[in-house]
Amino acid sequence: MSGYFIVFEGGEGAGKSTQEALLTEALEERGLTVTRTREPGGTPAGEEIRRVVLSPEFEGLDPRAEALLFAAARGEHVARVIRPALERGEVVICDRYLDSSVAYQGYARGLGPRRIRDLSLWATNELLPDLTIVLDIDPADGLGRFTERDRLEAEPLDYHRQVRAAYLALAEEDPERYLVLDARDDIQAIAAAILARVSGDLEQA
Ligand SMILES: Nc1ncnc2c1ncn2[C@@H]1O[C@H](COP(=O)(O)OP(=O)(O)OP(=O)(O)O)[C@@H](O)[C@H]1O
Ligand SMILES: [Mg+2]
Repeated sequence: MSGYFIVFEGGEGAGKSTQEALLTEALEERGLTVTRTREPGGTPAGEEIRRVVLSPEFEGLDPRAEALLFAAARGEHVARVIRPALERGEVVICDRYLDSSVAYQGYARGLGPRRIRDLSLWATNELLPDLTIVLDIDPADGLGRFTERDRLEAEPLDYHRQVRAAYLALAEEDPERYLVLDARDDIQAIAAAILARVSGDLEQA
């Protein structure tokens, strides 16, 4: 595959959507074709699954069922959107991916990071990002950027702290494929750091 697969991870309100928009714009200005997408969702079936897993209507959804739904949506997303775009040689920018499942379901829900990772790898036929950008923020600060909360955002702060720790642990295990940035920095400064890293990676590729 000739494309380049970038994933943004980080807690609620970390600034993922903000930075994805800025990076997309910067890369398109350079003449690159960017497919911007998000998880859970990204396909019609995936958006339906997103509605189920994030809706307060389904409060108390069984954690294993929740993990399988996320993996199912991801499999569909990779098969229909991400892999085809990479095969066309595009840059794919995805809001959340496998590490979200590992952090939220594997660590914070206690289902086991290894098992959740393997489930996602099976679902996606082993597709891993080329680069994962972690926007790191104390959940109290990230959640403070919002007023409305969905089902996962309404989890206790301690749950979100476990998610944060999980992202940092994942990045530490594989520093070459991760860029961890302090999400409290200025929006433009973060965007510049991301663009510098991505430009460097794309030149090498
Ligand atoms: N570096 C920053 N400093 C201060 N405020 C920021 C920063 N980045 C984003 N914001 C603001 O914080 C809010 C949340 O940002 P954004 O929606 O990009 O986060 P997100 O990670 O995509 O959140 P979600 O988890 O809901 O998708 C927005 O109002 C945004 O303008
Ligand atoms: Mg967002």
